[in-house]
Amino acid sequence: MKLPPGSARLPLLELMDWINRPLAFLEDTAARYGDPFTARFGIWEVDTLVFFSNPKAIQELYATDSRQFSIGQANTMLQPLLGDHSVLLLDGELNMLMAAVDETGAGMSDQELRDELITLLVAGHETTATALTWALYWVHHTPGVHAKLLSELIGTNPAQWGSLPYLTAVSQETLRLYPVALIGFGRVVKEPFTFQGYTYPTDTALIPCIYLTHHRPEIYPQSKQFRPERFLERQFTPYEYMPFGGANRRCLGMAFALYELKLVLAAILLRVDLELCTQADLQPVRRSVTLSPPADFQMVVRTRRQVEAPV
Ligand code: HEM
Repeated sequence: MKLPPGSARLPLLELMDWINRPLAFLEDTAARYGDPFTARFGIWEVDTLVFFSNPKAIQELYATDSRQFSIGQANTMLQPLLGDHSVLLLDGELNMLMAAVDETGAGMSDQELRDELITLLVAGHETTATALTWALYWVHHTPGVHAKLLSELIGTNPAQWGSLPYLTAVSQETLRLYPVALIGFGRVVKEPFTFQGYTYPTDTALIPCIYLTHHRPEIYPQSKQFRPERFLERQFTPYEYMPFGGANRRCLGMAFALYELKLVLAAILLRVDLELCTQADLQPVRRSVTLSPPADFQMVVRTRRQVEAPV
């Protein structure tokens, strides 16, 4: 079956590129082969991956009956880390998991609970810590942002922080520019599936590419610039802006994570003046399945402020 264009390199070379320089891999391949493009990594059961960044295609993918796809299959590479029972490895609707009791009314086993807790730790801790680090970097690296944010924050109390417009826009722009997850879960087709002009064979993973979507120039002009105002000037659809993925597998922690990000950012900025140790542009690195600032990224506390509001 004919698939979207893609590199004819050896799968191992494709895989090494994806692991070692994920952003360059995505940008170079999209520039060369367009959208969508096909990649082959050659090691997992799901060998053929097709990356999409066109919001219309992503909208259609998310609107497709989820029973046509398997998702847990695309996440099996995480199995050794998460355990066999993790929600990330499941297919079907999550509310089935929430309601999970057997016919005697018993809940989850210790092993199942352990796997879900590890999942929440992996999915929830690293991601928010990474987003917060990026936010602190952008706020101090981009001229004008810190002053504007502080002037919005001063005189407010924590109950207001969740709905402050500029703080919200700074958080959204942080998750746009370097989304913590470069891609959403792959939808693995269970049977040959015709979609957007191609027929995909069984076991092809259709992948919504969050990073490339967030850098489409017609949606986000000068996409490499940190400009929170974009989010004040217009609203983006859930297929143009999707740091938390979408449809039936959208991030379970989305509301919590956004709220936490705003709260912690506001609390830090109101308490201390921070300074970047270097003004050089920070280059993201792959850290497990997330994209984060390099491990040697540092900021220092210059002064501490007297806080009026209890934080
Ligand atoms: C800034 C922080 C976070 C980001 C950027 C993020 C991003 C994502 C993304 C992109 C997905 C895949 C969704 C898809 O493909 O449709 C996901 C799934 C998930 N996230 Fe998050 N996440 C964050 C924080 C959290 C937190 C705090 C929790 C839990 C406390 C959490 C729990 C989960 C779980 C359980 C899933 C799997 C959902 C499923 O399998 O259906 N995440 N997240």
